[in-house]
Amino acid sequence: MDIKGKKAVVFGGTSGIGLATTKLLAGEGANVVAISRDPSKAGELPAGVSTRACDVRDSAAMESLLAELGPFDILVSAATGGERAVGPFVEMDIDGFKGSFDKLWGYANVVRYGAAHLNEGGSITLVSGSPARAHPRDLSALSAVGGAVEALVKTVAREIAPQRRINVVSPGVIDTPMMALEGKAEREAAYADMTKGYLIPRAGTAEEVARGLMFVITNDFVTGTIVDVDGGWLLSD
Ligand SMILES: NC(=O)c1ccc[n+]([C@@H]2O[C@H](COP(=O)([O-])OP(=O)(O)OC[C@H]3O[C@@H](n4cnc5c(N)ncnc54)[C@H](OP(=O)(O)O)[C@@H]3O)[C@@H](O)[C@H]2O)c1
Repeated sequence: MDIKGKKAVVFGGTSGIGLATTKLLAGEGANVVAISRDPSKAGELPAGVSTRACDVRDSAAMESLLAELGPFDILVSAATGGERAVGPFVEMDIDGFKGSFDKLWGYANVVRYGAAHLNEGGSITLVSGSPARAHPRDLSALSAVGGAVEALVKTVAREIAPQRRINVVSPGVIDTPMMALEGKAEREAAYADMTKGYLIPRAGTAEEVARGLMFVITNDFVTGTIVDVDGGWLLSD
């Protein structure tokens, strides 16, 4: 797909990976609508980008917003949805575990109410995360949610082919505002510790992940695929 002149809708497009994707899409000439609960956090945006406010968990609001914005060619969601529970599963607050699935419910709304407004030749891209297949200790919620996202995408790929495509990009540890870390020194130390066993021992950048999204968005022969942008986390010791 040639991005120039296409219409793109990016949920979570106002921060981190979604914002980086919004900027790359706009740079290639797309008209982008970046959406989150508080789009003002995006700061100054390039020409061709507008913003809307919506909570991806609000099914009724999502159905009407996607109907209003359609038809479009590129649909992306990188919205985290809500809080993530961490720690041993057998000691975990069960409501915290269940709440981590807000990411899946948000993505489900994006796909369920967005697919009908996707032009022929268009694509949907969701963002999962390495825990889906690395199954790290203490990240059971992220692992379960990511696995569900990847299974959903592969099943929907069958339903919407061959006219439309859907893929997943799976990031490893990425330096974005998602991680509440204060100051440069604290960020560098935390990311160095988190990634010390990885083949590429550093945090990735939001733009490196967004380039993975651009690959699946632009390559018309790619559907039902998971692209890992993870510095080799899945092969780490
Ligand atoms: N950063 C990492 O290390 C990493 C690793 C693996 C996977 N991921 C995944 O990558 C995706 C993007 O993460 P990120 O690091 O770019 O996070 P981020 O910088 O915190 O951005 C998250 C975006 O989602 C929006 N959002 C969150 N909840 C929302 C809701 N309920 N409704 C609408 N918008 C919502 C946020 O805006 P508002 O707050 O204004 O709503 C923001 O625009 C997420 O799915 C995350 O799980 C990240």
